[in-house]
Amino acid sequence: MKALLTAGGHGTRLQPLTHTQNKHLIPIANKPMIHFALEYLKEAGIIEVGIIINAGDTSFPEVLGDGSNWGIKITYIEQEAPLGLAHVVKIAEPFIGEEPFVFYLGDNILVGGIKKFIDTFKTQKSNCHLVLSQVGDPTRFGVAEIKDDKILNIEEKPLNPKSNYAVTGIYFYDKSIFEAVNAIKPSARGELEISDAHQYLLDHNKKITFSEITGWWKDTGNPADLLEANRLVTDNIVHKIYAQVDESNQIFGRVIIEQGAKLKNCVIRGPAIIGKNSVLVDAYIGPFTSISDGCFIGNSEVEYSIVMEGSRIQDAGIRIEGSLIGKNVDIVKAKSKPRTQRFMIGDQSRVELL
Ligand code: TTP
Repeated sequence: MKALLTAGGHGTRLQPLTHTQNKHLIPIANKPMIHFALEYLKEAGIIEVGIIINAGDTSFPEVLGDGSNWGIKITYIEQEAPLGLAHVVKIAEPFIGEEPFVFYLGDNILVGGIKKFIDTFKTQKSNCHLVLSQVGDPTRFGVAEIKDDKILNIEEKPLNPKSNYAVTGIYFYDKSIFEAVNAIKPSARGELEISDAHQYLLDHNKKITFSEITGWWKDTGNPADLLEANRLVTDNIVHKIYAQVDESNQIFGRVIIEQGAKLKNCVIRGPAIIGKNSVLVDAYIGPFTSISDGCFIGNSEVEYSIVMEGSRIQDAGIRIEGSLIGKNVDIVKAKSKPRTQRFMIGDQSRVELL
């Protein structure tokens, strides 16, 4: 079985972070998001993985190479523009060929892997197997109407959802999906919608089965979901301190402190991760925080946040919470008079002041 994994798209909801890096490389618990999908595919015994990337994006071949480090074989497939998920499937037909495959959206994070879903798909011999999850607000997902254990229809982002079963970003198909993606037409927003392809399969009496995710699952498209995914992943870390941490520091709960990190007079309340060669002085790091490699936190408090590589937070004053801080960002106290708030912030940034 092959896999088709998405790493393209617009990433609009995560701007400005996605102006300078692809969404799927944003770290969750200090690991690029796409690693989670690759690990699950490998664990499920899938070796051949096609990764859909935006045309001209060289970051994935640079970061993931040919997949040999993972024991998998990666083929990069360029999508000329983000023209929809069904368009992704359509252009991948030459890579997939005739065999059944898993279609995995690279911004989906779930617990427990996908092996059990593959097994169900194989036993049920369906044309399409969807993984559903009950959610509080189904209006931003494809939503399945279910009766007597059967999917009756699927609507994309319905205003009045017929159920709270969201279609997650993990799908299993046989070759009939290609008939569907070649037959449907672009939606009002100009995309080939995967929900329309699913509806086509239903309308043509193909067998669509489903599994329900009972553990957690997150589509990390927006900032709040990204922080929540970081919370869920850090909540499962195994305590391990690789650096030398002296008695001036107080460590509570499960934390990972990577090699070369230096801490002085800090309070770390886990679950939290401190990346390689980061320096923390007089800092408080609260639960569900990931500090990436090479950061500096001085006389500042950070909680429930993601701080990316090389960023510096010095004398922040008020605790930083619920924040996504990109790479090489400086947050420092104004030294010269007048003591005003002073910003140098890129397009589409967001700052909340007290
Ligand atoms: P979405 O989250 O639906 O879209 P997006 O990533 O463009 O983000 P936004 O809505 O904030 O602009 O995409 C789901 C997944 O599919 C994600 O991994 C990106 C990927 N994708 C493609 O690779 N090609 C596409 O044409 C589309 C629409 C998405």
